[in-house]
Amino acid sequence: MAAGEARAQLQYGFYNTSCPGVEEVVRSELKGIFSNDTTLRAGLLRLHFHDCFVRGCDASLMLNSHNATAEKDADPNLTVRGYEAIEAVKAKVEATCPLVVSCADIMAMAARDAVYFSDGPEYEVETGRRDGNVSNMAEALTNLPPSDGNVTVMTQYFAVKNLTMKDMVVLSAAHTIGVAHCTSFSKRLYNFTGDGDQDPSLDPAFAKQLAAVCKPGNVASVEPLDALTPVKFDNGYYKSVAAHQALLGSDAGLIDDSLTGAYVRLMTNDTNLDTFFADFAVSMINMGRVGVLTGTDGQIRPTCGIYVD
Ligand code: HEM
Repeated sequence: MAAGEARAQLQYGFYNTSCPGVEEVVRSELKGIFSNDTTLRAGLLRLHFHDCFVRGCDASLMLNSHNATAEKDADPNLTVRGYEAIEAVKAKVEATCPLVVSCADIMAMAARDAVYFSDGPEYEVETGRRDGNVSNMAEALTNLPPSDGNVTVMTQYFAVKNLTMKDMVVLSAAHTIGVAHCTSFSKRLYNFTGDGDQDPSLDPAFAKQLAAVCKPGNVASVEPLDALTPVKFDNGYYKSVAAHQALLGSDAGLIDDSLTGAYVRLMTNDTNLDTFFADFAVSMINMGRVGVLTGTDGQIRPTCGIYVD
């Protein structure tokens, strides 16, 4: 960028003239996709997060693997789902507006629509992102937060992305929908400190239910991240955390810190969900700004998985 040149910004309605109606196309395509597989709502919400935390929201996560060293190949991304859904939406958009709309913007819209179709808040997304063409496994491993991190660790992972502790406790509530594989939390059931013990912070009755499904070595089964209301976007996640029934260590830890713990408790009483929904929309918009490429940076490619020179 030349000195004195203004950096292009994300904006609402970036495609109003270049691809009018694109948001409706995306939503209607997703409506069909979600009606075939409701679990993809959670998949697409997570996909946007895992994209944004590695090189910014630039669709680099979509790039096909070469020599098994792409973002996609990193361990936390092996359970990420919804790549085909994004490609299907992109193909639909390309049919109307070729080489105009970025994959990164489609991913941001898809995350928003996933929340909307799960009865969560409806919010406007900023657009104008462009797509990156570098995808690196090591960067994904460094930037994606670990599932057993405590509040201090998690806050640090978010701070690196210019996201606050509040963004962290708010965005963690994406776990109000979707599932985790037993492997993501079995250490809490069987070998918490390396001594064959259980995480003492886990509700024992709940742990027993989990252990009935997640036997040692079970790598295939999944459990809902919010056992109270697994497919509904609501404050069930915060109720689960407050009741010591969170699956992941990173979620369970939120109740231990005075600030995040206060927020969790507050949200358990947010019966009309107004505060939670407003906060979630703000934090999603904040996350959608992380490291974006705009203006003439990056590219618009015909297929999200295939980078063009
Ligand atoms: C705070 C740090 C976070 C950690 C450590 C974390 C970790 C995880 C883990 C381990 C899983 C389960 C993966 C599996 O076993 O299949 C998961 C699932 C999920 N995560 Fe997160 N996550 C975090 C934040 C977020 C954020 C910010 C979002 C989105 C805004 C998000 C959205 C999801 C969703 C929707 C699922 C369910 C996916 C599905 O059903 O396929 N997570 N997360």
